[in-house]
Amino acid sequence: TMGLKSILFVMALLLSGAAAAIKTYFNETAYLPCQFINSQNISLDELVVFWQNQEKLVVYELYQGKEKFDNVDPKYKNRNISFDEENWTLRLHNVEIKDQGDYQCFIHHKGPKGLVPSHKMFPPTKLLVIANFSQPEIMEGSNSSSKSYRNLTCSSIQGYPQPEEMYFLLTTENSTIKYSTTMQKSQDNITELYNVSISWSYSGFHDTTNRSIICVLCVSEMCLFSKPYDI
Ligand SMILES: *[C@@H]1O[C@H](CO)[C@@H](O)[C@H](O)[C@H]1NC(C)=O
Ligand SMILES: *[C@@H]1O[C@H](CO)[C@@H](O)[C@H](O)[C@H]1NC(C)=O
Ligand SMILES: *[C@@H]1O[C@H](CO)[C@@H](O)[C@H](O)[C@H]1NC(C)=O
Ligand SMILES: *[C@@H]1O[C@H](CO)[C@@H](O)[C@H](O)[C@H]1NC(C)=O
Ligand SMILES: *[C@@H]1O[C@H](CO)[C@@H](O)[C@H](O)[C@H]1NC(C)=O
Ligand SMILES: *[C@@H]1O[C@H](CO)[C@@H](O)[C@H](O)[C@H]1NC(C)=O
Ligand SMILES: *[C@@H]1O[C@H](CO)[C@@H](O)[C@H](O)[C@H]1NC(C)=O
Ligand SMILES: *[C@@H]1O[C@H](CO)[C@@H](O)[C@H](O)[C@H]1NC(C)=O
Ligand SMILES: *[C@@H]1O[C@H](CO)[C@@H](O)[C@H](O)[C@H]1NC(C)=O
Ligand SMILES: *[C@@H]1O[C@H](CO)[C@@H](O)[C@H](O)[C@H]1NC(C)=O
Ligand SMILES: *[C@@H]1O[C@H](CO)[C@@H](O)[C@H](O)[C@H]1NC(C)=O
Repeated sequence: TMGLKSILFVMALLLSGAAAAIKTYFNETAYLPCQFINSQNISLDELVVFWQNQEKLVVYELYQGKEKFDNVDPKYKNRNISFDEENWTLRLHNVEIKDQGDYQCFIHHKGPKGLVPSHKMFPPTKLLVIANFSQPEIMEGSNSSSKSYRNLTCSSIQGYPQPEEMYFLLTTENSTIKYSTTMQKSQDNITELYNVSISWSYSGFHDTTNRSIICVLCVSEMCLFSKPYDI
C-alpha cells in the first residue's frame, strides 16, 4: 500500500499542475528557473535554451551558447535580461507590473538530425510582482484653519496590488473608533502602480480631550500604519 500511496501522491502532484509562484518586488530582478537536470553534461554549444511567456512569445533565447534575438518578441528586445549559466536561471531585471504571468523554459538538443525537443518545464513558473506602498501619511487640509471644521487626508503612494482597505483610527483616552471613507485610487498608466488616499472632514471637537489619529492601509492581509497625528 506504501507504493500505491506514493503513486497517488505523484499523480496528485502532476494533476494539480499548480505553477510555482515567484514573488518579485517591482524594479528588482526576477529569477525564472528552467529546472533542467543536465545529467549527461551536455554542453550549451549543443543546445537551444529559450523561455516563453503565457502568450507563447519568446522572452529570451540562448542558441548554442550565444544570445540570439531573431525570435525574441520586440517587447523584450530592449529589456535587461540575462542567463545564469551556474543554475540555468533567467534573470529578468527591472521587473515591471506587466511582467506578471507564466513563464516556461524549453530546451532543444542540436543533434546530427537537427533540433530535438529535450526539455519543457512543467508547470510554468508564475511570476507575481509587488510594490510596497509608502508609509501612509496624514496631512491636514489647508481649509482646516477654522477650529470648527477640519479636513484630514491620508495618502500612500506607488504600491501594487490594489489595497483592500484604508481607514482612520481615532483614539481617545477611553476608546478607539474606526472611520472608513471611500478610498480614492489613481493608477499610473505606465508603471501601473497605485496611489491611494482617504479624506475625513468633521466639525471640531468641543472638549479638550487629548486625541490622536492614525491611518491604516491594508494590502494583501498586511497593514501599514501612519505616524500618530494629534488633533
Ligand atoms: C529602477 O531601478 C533602476 C536601477 O536599476 C533605477 O535607475 C530606476 O530609477 C528605477 N525605476 C523606478 C521606476 O523605480
Ligand atoms: C562537464 O563537461 C565539462 C566540459 O564540457 C567539464 O569541464 C566538466 O567537468 C563536466 N562536469 C561533469 C560533472 O562531468
Ligand atoms: C542589468 O541589470 C543588472 C542588475 O540590475 C545590472 O547590474 C546591469 O548593469 C544591467 N545591464 C544593463 C545592460 O543595463
Ligand atoms: C542562481 O544563482 C544566483 C547566484 O549565482 C542566485 O542569486 C539565484 O538565486 C539562483 N537561482 C536559483 C533559482 O537557484
Ligand atoms: C516590502 O515590505 C516587506 C514587509 O514590510 C519587507 O519585508 C520588504 O523588505 C519590503 N521590500 C522592499 C523592496 O521595500
Ligand atoms: C472650506 O470648506 C468649506 C466647507 O466645506 C467650503 O464651503 C469652502 O469652500 C472651503 N474653502 C476652500 C478654500 O476650499
Ligand atoms: C478634504 O481635502 C481633500 C484633499 O485636499 C479634498 O480632496 C477633499 O475634497 C476635502 N474635503 C472636504 C469636504 O473639504
Ligand atoms: C475615561 O474613563 C475614565 C474612567 O472611567 C473617566 O474618569 C474619564 O472621564 C473618561 N474620559 C472621557 C474623555 O470620557
Ligand atoms: C503618485 O504620486 C507620485 C508622488 O506624489 C506622483 O509623482 C505620481 O504622479 C502619482 N501618480 C498618480 C497616478 O497619481
Ligand atoms: C497616460 O495618461 C495621461 C493622462 O491621462 C495621458 O496624457 C498619457 O497619454 C497617457 N500615457 C499613455 C502611455 O497611455
Ligand atoms: C496626547 O497623548 C499622547 C500620548 O497618548 C502624547 O504623546 C501627546 O503629547 C499628548 N498631547 C497633548 C497635547 O497632551
